[in-house]
Amino acid sequence: MKLTSWILAFLLLTVATVIALTLSGVRPQPDMKVARLQAVEVLVDAGRYLADIAGCRNCHSDLQDPDSAFAGGRVFDTRFGSYYSPNITPDEKTGIGLWKKEEFMVVMQYGVSPKGAHYYPVFPYTSLSSMRNEDLLAIYQFLKGQPPVEKKNRKNGRALFIWRNAVQLWKRLAFERKIIQPDPLRSAAWNRGRYLADAVMHCGECHTPRNFMGIVDNKRYFSGDSSHMVMKARIPDITQNKVSGIGYWSEQHLLRYFKTGTKPDGSVSRHELSGVAYHTMNYLTDSDARALVTYLKSVPASR
Ligand code: HEC
Ligand code: HEC
Repeated sequence: MKLTSWILAFLLLTVATVIALTLSGVRPQPDMKVARLQAVEVLVDAGRYLADIAGCRNCHSDLQDPDSAFAGGRVFDTRFGSYYSPNITPDEKTGIGLWKKEEFMVVMQYGVSPKGAHYYPVFPYTSLSSMRNEDLLAIYQFLKGQPPVEKKNRKNGRALFIWRNAVQLWKRLAFERKIIQPDPLRSAAWNRGRYLADAVMHCGECHTPRNFMGIVDNKRYFSGDSSHMVMKARIPDITQNKVSGIGYWSEQHLLRYFKTGTKPDGSVSRHELSGVAYHTMNYLTDSDARALVTYLKSVPASR
């Protein structure tokens, strides 16, 4: 970790402890309003698909251990330490089997655990919280029906109580649950594409640069980062900029990239992080893939 990151983290920590002490233990209440109720089977199928494209399956499964889908244990190396995804199978001892629907919703909508702890944003609830309630409930219903796997969570590299307080402060500055309203002037495909990009598939978590506080800078939406603030990676510009971005990629180029990770010049994305993204994109249905392309094609070129 770079010295500046350390100093930053230390400052944040100090301020956070002071503020955390003054913050009362107000717990967010789940937002349970749903537009439509679906039959249980439809819900489970919808939930499976969403868990695939939102990366729940990918992030919460240990790549070395293919038999324990959703049982966690995948490691994420960041400039702020290493984090392990937890077990989200319905195992009652080590997973989320005893969680109520409402508790699950608070986790997804506000990044707060049933015990009131704040999650590290390596779990991208900062975007996933914009998912529609019915979509989150569908995922809950699907996860509940998965085989329980008994597998203890691994401790994070920095999972001290105090650091979670720092997260609480960071969230005050950086996080607000945003509801994405459809834009009536745009097509259904564009609106679907934006919902996929901004909420479900959280492209901006990696592709939008962050300021020194680790807050996503939407003025530079999707313009990439040669040295990402959190992730140890060079993240490409995916705006319509024809030089630095993907402005020259055709619809076919993008569709091929989603399915195979192959770029127009024939090279293949091999970076582990693009794997994180790629193993969500290749689950997209044809119509969702096209919707995502429609949206990406509308993202203004970076300057
Ligand atoms: C980029 C990887 C990533 C993605 C994508 C992701 N998660 Fe997670 N998730 C994590 C990590 C890491 C944590 C632990 C964060 C912490 O320790 O503060 C976590 C925590 C959780 C928790 C809390 C579990 C507990 O025991 O407290 C739940 C529930 C959860 N994720 C569900 C989901 C669902 C559902 C999705 C898909 C909609 C999802 N996650 C997508 C990485 C991810
Ligand atoms: C977990 C981080 C992460 C997320 C989330 C993510 N990406 Fe990426 N993406 C990367 C990285 C890293 C690369 C660079 C891969 C390489 O080196 O080839 C990349 C590469 C790309 C490229 C190739 C661009 C080029 O010029 O090489 C496209 C297109 C792309 N991503 C689109 C998306 C879209 C669309 C989404 C959301 C649906 C998304 N990505 C979500 C990390 C991410």
